[in-house]
Amino acid sequence: MTTHDVKHDADHQALLRVVGVGVRFGGLTALDDVSFEVHEGDLLGLIGPNGAGKTTLMRAIMGVVQPTHGNVYLEGESLNGLPIHKRVRRGLSLSQQLVKPLRDISIAANVAMAAAHHKTASPLSALLNVSDAKELALAHAELARVGIDSLSLQSPGIQPLGVLKRLELARALALKPKLLLLDEPLAGLNTQEAKALATTIADINQQGLTILLIEHNLHEILRICRRLVVLDNGKKIGEGEPHTVMSDPDVRTAYLGSGAAGQSDHAKHMKGAAEHA
Ligand SMILES: Nc1ncnc2c1ncn2[C@@H]1O[C@H](COP(=O)(O)OP(=O)(O)OP(=O)(O)O)[C@@H](O)[C@H]1O
Ligand SMILES: [Mg+2]
Repeated sequence: MTTHDVKHDADHQALLRVVGVGVRFGGLTALDDVSFEVHEGDLLGLIGPNGAGKTTLMRAIMGVVQPTHGNVYLEGESLNGLPIHKRVRRGLSLSQQLVKPLRDISIAANVAMAAAHHKTASPLSALLNVSDAKELALAHAELARVGIDSLSLQSPGIQPLGVLKRLELARALALKPKLLLLDEPLAGLNTQEAKALATTIADINQQGLTILLIEHNLHEILRICRRLVVLDNGKKIGEGEPHTVMSDPDVRTAYLGSGAAGQSDHAKHMKGAAEHA
């Protein structure tokens, strides 16, 4: 064992450790014995074909679904059995694929409510807490960080998807997470919007926040991620430096071999990205 290995074991504990996680839905095995680590400062891309189990894995980390096997550790402590709000307090924050802000309150109030939620664990008392100046100040800071503070007094109801995605990101940031989980933040955006939001995500990582990112947009994934984990059919089939992972035969087969008609665009996209790897 080298000196570097010793230091790694002793001092550099993983921020998140996923160990042998399995999830079953009735007869379907959605995840099978998946293990990986997220280290402090990582911007880790979690990729794989449709139905691979990416969202299920994020939900298992967050406590939305219960693993049938295995365990998840944050800063060395087991999260098993903890409800979602306690995981939020431990430092996890999940930004979901579907953007669902409250439409009757301002953009700033939506973010302030997320900040208050962190303390109360109840959406109703969080709503009653949004007048708190401290939460509003925090909301404005997070909105500025994602580039939409100029819209803070507007209603989310009239905003385009690009703004709603940034609002969702600000809400997740308002929880002051140690680890931010993002599920397809770029989905539905055009090429330019996707590039801009990916750059914002990379900037937030550069500022020190550890991020686990699910994305089908491999062009942006390869541009901003330093490490990838690849799932296929519930199993981890690849892990490591992005360009090395993308040139792995098993990873290529998982994408290019999934020839279902509905996946052809995705497969083409993947093929292009793999060929540039
Ligand atoms: N709540 C659920 N009940 C039953 N089956 C589910 C449930 N959630 C997910 N599944 C199944 O588990 C498998 C993995 O789904 P998951 O949504 O995690 O895939 P994914 O990698 O996120 O796919 P996509 O890229 O399409 O979002 C799929 O076969 C899916 O149909
Ligand atoms: Mg998904």
